[in-house]
Amino acid sequence: MQSSYVWLTLLGASLCAACLLGCAAVAPSGGNINAQPFGKTKEGTPVDIFTLRNKNGVEARICNYGGIVVSLKVPDRNGQMSDVVLGYDKLDDYIKSSPYFGCLVGRYGNRIAKGKFTLNGNVYTLATNNGPNALHGGIKGFDKVVWEAKVLGSHDGPTLQLRYLSKDGEEGYPGNLSVTAVYTLTEDNGLKLDYTATTDKDTVVNLTQHTYFNLAQKGDILNHVVMINADKFTPVDSTLIPTGELRPVEGTPFDFRKPTAIGARINQDDEQLKFGNGYDHNWVLNKPMGQLGLAARVSEPTTGRVLEVLTTEPGLQFYTGNFLDGTLKGKGGWVYQFRNAFCMEPQHYPDSPNHPEFPSVVLKPGKTYKNTIIYRFSTSK
Ligand code: BGC
Repeated sequence: MQSSYVWLTLLGASLCAACLLGCAAVAPSGGNINAQPFGKTKEGTPVDIFTLRNKNGVEARICNYGGIVVSLKVPDRNGQMSDVVLGYDKLDDYIKSSPYFGCLVGRYGNRIAKGKFTLNGNVYTLATNNGPNALHGGIKGFDKVVWEAKVLGSHDGPTLQLRYLSKDGEEGYPGNLSVTAVYTLTEDNGLKLDYTATTDKDTVVNLTQHTYFNLAQKGDILNHVVMINADKFTPVDSTLIPTGELRPVEGTPFDFRKPTAIGARINQDDEQLKFGNGYDHNWVLNKPMGQLGLAARVSEPTTGRVLEVLTTEPGLQFYTGNFLDGTLKGKGGWVYQFRNAFCMEPQHYPDSPNHPEFPSVVLKPGKTYKNTIIYRFSTSK
C-alpha cells in the first residue's frame, strides 16, 4: 500500500502530515514532498522513503532508516539533472553493508580513542568497531535506527522532521538523548539539516552527516577541485586519532585555502596522507563556532557542478573514499571503487572527549545542542 504525507503550510504553523493514499502535497513555493514504503528492517519495522522536490526540480530522496539521503538530483551547467550521491537502490542493501552511505551519524561522529572517555570522574566504555577505536556512534549508531518521521510545514521548502530517542546507556553513552534532525530542501538548491538534541544527564554529542558525493556521477573524484576554509588541521596517529596538535596547513598537502584538485597532492610522500590512505582528516574551520559560515566549496570541471558546505560546527572531516575498494555494488550497478566519492562531514573534532583543549562536546541537562549543515548546489561556466 502506498502512503503519502501531506505537506500543509498554514500561516507558518507547523502541521504534521496525515497519511493519505497516493497524493503528493504541493507547497506554496512550488516544491512538494511525498512518501512511499521503502521496505522493512529485520525486526519488521516499516521504513518510508520521502521525496522532496523544490520549484527548480532539485530532488532529494531520504529514508527514515538512518535518515539516509538515498539520492540527490541536481543540475549541471546545461540543466541536466543527475544523482550526485552514492548509495543503494534497496533498503536491504543499506542494512546488509554500508560504509555509512548518506546517513545521519551519532551519538558521536568519527573516532573516540580506544572506545573510552571520562566524564565527571566516571569512565565510559564504548564498543570498539574500528580497530582499537569507537567510530560513528558504535555498533548500532544513529545510522542504523528507524527515526520517527513527520512532514512539516515550512516556508523554506519541503521539510522532513526525523526524531530519535537514544536511551541512557545505548552504545555505552550516558543520558537519554532526544534528537531531532530536520531536512529542508531550500529554494536556493540547498539540502539543509538542522539538528537539535537534549539530554537528562551530562553526556557527549557530536552529530554529522555522511553523504558520499561524486558531482560527475562516474569515476574517481581526483579532478574535483576543493577549497576548505581552514588554516589548520588536526593531525592523527596511525589509528586516525588526533594527536592534539592544531597544525598549520601552510606548506602541506592539506592546504586547500586556494582551490586545488583533490588528486594534485593526494599521493605525495606524506606521513599524514599515509595514515589516512588519502585525505581522512579534520580541518579547523576559520570561523566563529556556532555561527553559520562557509566550510568548503567543491567544483567539478566537466559538469560545472558546485557544492558549497556551510556549517555552524568548528570542524570539517574531509574523507576521500579511501576505504571504497570495489566490493560494493551500488545504485544502477555502479561498483564503487577506490576514491569514487568524497564526504564533507561538519563536526566537532574527533576524540574531543579525550582532548580537553578541543572545543567541548559535553551536553548538560537544560541545554540544547544545535548544529546546522547545508549542502548547497550551483553551477559554474
Ligand atoms: C571516517 C573514515 C571512515 C568513513 C566511513 C569517515 O568519517 O573518517 O575513516 O572510513 O567515515 O566509515
